[in-house]
Amino acid sequence: MVVVMTDGVSDRRDLTKELDLLAENVIRMLEENDAKIYSREVIEEFRNPSNIGRMQDADGEGVGDGICGDSMEIYLKIKDGVIERCTFFTDGCGATIACGSRLTRFVKGMSVEGAKAVKPASLIHLLNGLPEEHVHCASLAVVALKGAIRNYESRQRAKEGARA
Ligand code: FES
Repeated sequence: MVVVMTDGVSDRRDLTKELDLLAENVIRMLEENDAKIYSREVIEEFRNPSNIGRMQDADGEGVGDGICGDSMEIYLKIKDGVIERCTFFTDGCGATIACGSRLTRFVKGMSVEGAKAVKPASLIHLLNGLPEEHVHCASLAVVALKGAIRNYESRQRAKEGARA
C-alpha cells in the first residue's frame, strides 16, 4: 500500500484554485444565459446603473407597484419646468434596475411636459427590447415617473395657493 503524504497547505491552495475556477465558470455560464435573454443595453445598464438612490431634497416623488410585488420609486429635482436630476430606488429584478437607470438618464434635461409623454414602449425601445415577462418592469418605472410628476405638480399648486 502506498501512502501519499501532503502538507495540507498545498491541498488548500489547490482547493482554492478549483473553487475560483468553478466560480468563474458559473459566472460565465450565467452571463452567457443573460446574453440569450436580455439585450446588450439591458445588461450594461443593469451591471453599471446610474442614478440609484432616494433623493432627500426631491421636488417630486412617486412609487410604482408591479404585478410581481416589486416596486420602484422615482425622485425628481426640477428647475424652471426642466428635470435637473432624476434618481430611482427599487427592490425589483435586474430588468427593473435597467429600466430605472435608463429612465433617469432619459428624462434628465427633459421638460416636465415632455416627461409626461414618456411611455413604457419608449423605454423598452431605448433598452433595445425586454423579454415578454419583463415588459411590466418598464411600466413600473414609467408609473413611478408619472407619480413623481403628479406629486411635483400638486406641491407647486400648494405653493401657489399659499402665495395667493
Ligand atoms: S419588476 Fe417585476 S419582474 Fe421586474
